[in-house]
Amino acid sequence: GEPRPLAGKKAIVTSGPTHEPIDPVRYIANRSSGKQGHAIAAALARLGAEVTLVSGPVTIPDPAGVSVVRVERAEEMRDAVLAALPADVAVMVAAVADWRVASAAGNKIKKRPGEAPPPLQLAENPDILKTVGHHGARPKLVIGFAAETENVADNGRAKLERKGADYILANDVSPATGIMGGDRNRVKLIGREGSEDWPEMDKDEVAAKLAALIAAKLSA
Ligand code: C5P
Repeated sequence: GEPRPLAGKKAIVTSGPTHEPIDPVRYIANRSSGKQGHAIAAALARLGAEVTLVSGPVTIPDPAGVSVVRVERAEEMRDAVLAALPADVAVMVAAVADWRVASAAGNKIKKRPGEAPPPLQLAENPDILKTVGHHGARPKLVIGFAAETENVADNGRAKLERKGADYILANDVSPATGIMGGDRNRVKLIGREGSEDWPEMDKDEVAAKLAALIAAKLSA
């Protein structure tokens, strides 16, 4: 059979968007499909890792051979990730909402004739990558993504430092690239010793290349 260089290793992957409730029927979300995160979870499992995939709401199928924990909100995602520690590697791919609604309404907010629109007070969400990157049980490898529309390299490098990550895969998600929601990706791998541009490829291929890198680093 195939070589399984990650046999005996534990991996945590986050994927998809988060949904932040406004009231029981409305939420704030983003355009993440979960394709890249799910592909990474599948690629790690293929190399033999025991993978926990913590996924926000997505419409794509669960990848084969991974245990999936489904969550909605960023705080739930953080709790599920921390519950999955310890691990050898964490790859945080989810497009976590930066903000949640400070106090979501318990009942549907009603539109009443003549009344002003309700204000939405936002509160900052926990940064899951940063929490894991600075955690007492920090995995040996902590990897994040940086979806940017400008200054991709500089923003990616700053993120590496701030979040305590070993690698950041930075990608340009400007609408013209078609990356967000699409099947292909073009990333820059930013590490502590330098960076490299990967050519545009399928998200599955990005996943396989990253899984191979993880296998090499964990066995070094
Ligand atoms: O700061 P920014 O959102 O651009 O960072 C992106 C990286 O951080 C991704 O790896 C994402 O999964 C992770 N992240 C997170 N929790 C947040 C925000 C981002 O884990 N609240």
